[in-house]
Amino acid sequence: GLPERVTIYEVGPRDGLQNEDAIVDVAVKAEFVRRLAGAGLTTIETTSFVHPQWVPQLADAAELLKLIELPDAVRAPVLVPNERGLDRALEAGVREIAIFASGTETFAQKNLNSTLDDQFAMFTPTVERALAAGLAVRGYVSMCYGDPWEGDVPVGQVVAVTKRLADLGCHELSLGDTIGVATPGQVVDLISGLQKAGVGVDQLAVHFHDTYGQALANTLTALREGVTVVDSSAGGLGGCPYAESATGNLATEDLVWQLDGLGIETGVDLEKLVATSVWMSKQLGKPAASRVVQALAG
Ligand code: HMG
Ligand code: MG
Repeated sequence: GLPERVTIYEVGPRDGLQNEDAIVDVAVKAEFVRRLAGAGLTTIETTSFVHPQWVPQLADAAELLKLIELPDAVRAPVLVPNERGLDRALEAGVREIAIFASGTETFAQKNLNSTLDDQFAMFTPTVERALAAGLAVRGYVSMCYGDPWEGDVPVGQVVAVTKRLADLGCHELSLGDTIGVATPGQVVDLISGLQKAGVGVDQLAVHFHDTYGQALANTLTALREGVTVVDSSAGGLGGCPYAESATGNLATEDLVWQLDGLGIETGVDLEKLVATSVWMSKQLGKPAASRVVQALAG
C-alpha cells in the first residue's frame, strides 16, 4: 500500500545552491527559504557548515541563518561534516544537523578527504556532542546505488555504513542516489537489506537525483516499501560538486504533482511552490529543470 501522508524534506537551498556556478546573494537565499516555507514546506535544509573553500557557494551559512526567521513548526536542518562544522552550527543557533557519510571508498576521499572507515572518526564525536546539546541528527549515505569511479556498490557495504550511522544515534537515515543511476529493483533490495540488519523503514528517507530520469519511479517504489520521508529540491535545482555527472535532485514540484494525484497529503501548495521556482530561476538566469514547473509556468 501507499502512505496517507508524506513528509517532504526540501534540499533546494543546500543541495541545489551548492552546485550552482553562480554565488547567489545571501538576501536572495533568505527570500528563497521564506518562500519555500510560505508554500507549506515544513522541513527545509537551509545550508551547510562545510569548509568554505570546498563549497564557496554556501560560505555565507552563518549570515544566512541570521536573516531567516521561520515559524517554530518549520525545521531548518543544516549539513555538518565534523566538529568544526558543529561548532559553527551551534554558534548560529541551529537545532538540527545532518551528517553525510560516503557509501564508497572513492567518494569518501573526494567528498570528505577521508576513507570509508576513517569518516566515522569524524562523525562519532560530532554526533555525540550534537545529541548532548539536544540537536536532532540526520545521517546521509551517499553513492548508495552506484559510484562514478567504482561502478556498482555492494548492498552489504551500504547497509553496513547506514547501520553504523543508526547506531551512532541518527534519528533518520537518508539513502542518497548521488549520481541518479538507481532503478527500482535496487531500491527494493537496499530497503530489504536494511530491514534484515534491523534498520526499519520508519527510520529511512530517500534522496534521489534525476540524472537518468528514474527519480520518481524510485520514489514511488520506496513509498510502496513503507518509506514516508522524501528528499527533493524546488525546481529540480542541484547536484553535488564532488560527484561527476550528478544533476539535480528530484524536483519538489514533480513529487508534489505525483503525490497530489495519488491523494497523498504533503501540506504543500503546488501553485505557490511553482511561483517560487519561477522566481528563483529568474535569479539564477536559467529555466527550472522541473517538468512540472515547465508545464505549469510555461
Ligand atoms: P580537510 O581539508 O581534510 O579538513 O577537509 P581538516 O580537518 O584537515 O582541516 C583543514 C582546515 O579546514 C583547518 O583549518 C580546519 O579548521 C578547517 P586550519 O587549522 O588549517 O586553519 N575546517 C573547517 N572550516 C570550516 N568549517 C568546517 C571545517 N572543517 C575543517 N566544517 C572536510 C575535510 C570534511 C572539512 C572537507 O572535506 C569538506 O568540507 N567537505 C565537504 C564537501 C561537501 O560539502 N560536499 C557536498 C555535500 S555532500 C552531498 O551533496 C551529498 C548529499 O546530497 C547526499 C547525496 O546526494 O548522496 C548529502
Ligand atoms: Mg544530494
